[in-house]
Amino acid sequence: MRDIRVALWGLGAMGSGIAKMIASKEGLALSGVCVRRDHLVGQEVYAYLGIDRGDRDPVFITNKIEDIVRRDLCDIVVLATDSFVETQFDKIMFCLERGVHVLSIAEEMAWPWAQNEELADKIDALAKMRGVSVLGTGINPGFVLDYLILALSGTCEHVESISAARVNDLAPFGKSVMVEQGVGISIDEFKRRMEEGSLSGHVGFPESMSMIAEGMGVALADIEETRDPIISNVDRKSAHGEAKKGNLAGIRQQSYGRLANGKVFIHLDHPQQICPEDEGVNTGDYVTIRADGYDMNLSIVPETPGGIGTIAMAVNMIPHVIGAKPGLRSMLDLPVPRCILGNYAEQIHQERDHRYRRGELVSVETVILPVGERAPQVPDDTKRTPLRAFTKGFLQEESATRGDLVTVRTMSDRLVTGTVSDLPISPTHTFGHSVPELTAVHRQVFELMFGGESK
Ligand SMILES: NC(=O)c1ccc[n+]([C@@H]2O[C@H](COP(=O)([O-])OP(=O)(O)OC[C@H]3O[C@@H](n4cnc5c(N)ncnc54)[C@H](OP(=O)(O)O)[C@@H]3O)[C@@H](O)[C@H]2O)c1
Repeated sequence: MRDIRVALWGLGAMGSGIAKMIASKEGLALSGVCVRRDHLVGQEVYAYLGIDRGDRDPVFITNKIEDIVRRDLCDIVVLATDSFVETQFDKIMFCLERGVHVLSIAEEMAWPWAQNEELADKIDALAKMRGVSVLGTGINPGFVLDYLILALSGTCEHVESISAARVNDLAPFGKSVMVEQGVGISIDEFKRRMEEGSLSGHVGFPESMSMIAEGMGVALADIEETRDPIISNVDRKSAHGEAKKGNLAGIRQQSYGRLANGKVFIHLDHPQQICPEDEGVNTGDYVTIRADGYDMNLSIVPETPGGIGTIAMAVNMIPHVIGAKPGLRSMLDLPVPRCILGNYAEQIHQERDHRYRRGELVSVETVILPVGERAPQVPDDTKRTPLRAFTKGFLQEESATRGDLVTVRTMSDRLVTGTVSDLPISPTHTFGHSVPELTAVHRQVFELMFGGESK
């Protein structure tokens, strides 16, 4: 079985950890690495990370993503660059255009429909068209304050409400997280940035809330979020952040998901700071589910490690993304995340795609009007779907599978270029099941028209 070829986009704190974990695993091969920092370009990645390459092929770091993301070069791209659907969108579409799967650790990608439904729909449409899958995952969102809660709730007959807290250390994370969390800034700057809306803080509460609510079939009428500065009483320093006494060590963010009657159904509490141990703060993950007549409590002390947790979730989900149904997927669609100790490629569960040969009849899909270009008068759900045409014809390429861009020659000798679709060649529709009422009506009509004589 061939190793899964993984291209890595972003080599910061998480990307570096992901590269190291891939290098330590059977069935995974790092096929390329793309960065922004010029001084890394051309360096051999295993040497840069200070790990033994063994008998693996050397991988030279590039800043040209087009050189490493191609279907013949990689199976999946792991995106570890930023946090938001809007900033990830072009990158994801770039990978999908080239027919490769995508796994992103951007927080908003954990439930991209929460705040970016239109972009999520576009990603979904292109992924389906190219026959590949996209997943957002991580430690939080992606696991602690959503997936774990949902998994626990599966043991309950009924849930009255949920409260959960993640008291964690930001030290393992990189520069992006320090900036987003305002680590090291003064209280005045915190207030100013809160007013101008330029402090992201923890990204992911709307995504976690929506995942829990959608997963449980609960309608939240309102999601409120609060932010309070965590002021350091001592000087703190981590690998990528520094907070002087009197400045911010991080932010305590809370979120309340309310039902239509105003009752808080979900309360999430997330004080995040660098080096909490410097002030005797113990980290931990805590979940309380108020079930029917009893409370179920889970605590993980100290916290599930955020850095290792994110890296491991990303790498351990790789085979599940490759085996997933094409489209934009969430953690709720895929097999349970677990630490894979054997061969990663053997954990891919999928029906093999049929490989078409030259001259074989295939169905190809072309987009006539993409999302965003549909006529203004069509209903909203139609607007969110591209107008597609399916054409049957004989394959001109040597061979192809679902999602490949190919040309076919139709029965009327037209050449049409499109992506191989999984639409069956033969019609699969029927005229439906027989309807007992209609057979009675049939008799009545003959009775009325011909006096009972069926002609
Ligand atoms: N879901 C979760 O649970 C979870 C957990 C951890 C982190 N995250 C998110 O994942 C992201 C990465 O985290 P991190 O700690 O690794 O951050 P980081 O250390 O700042 O790394 C981000 C890296 O991405 C690179 N980058 C950004 N845009 C790029 C582009 N267009 N092409 C190539 N490289 C690019 C940056 O390069 P330069 O250094 O050259 O600028 C940087 O090295 C952050 O947004 C973080 O919030 C999510």
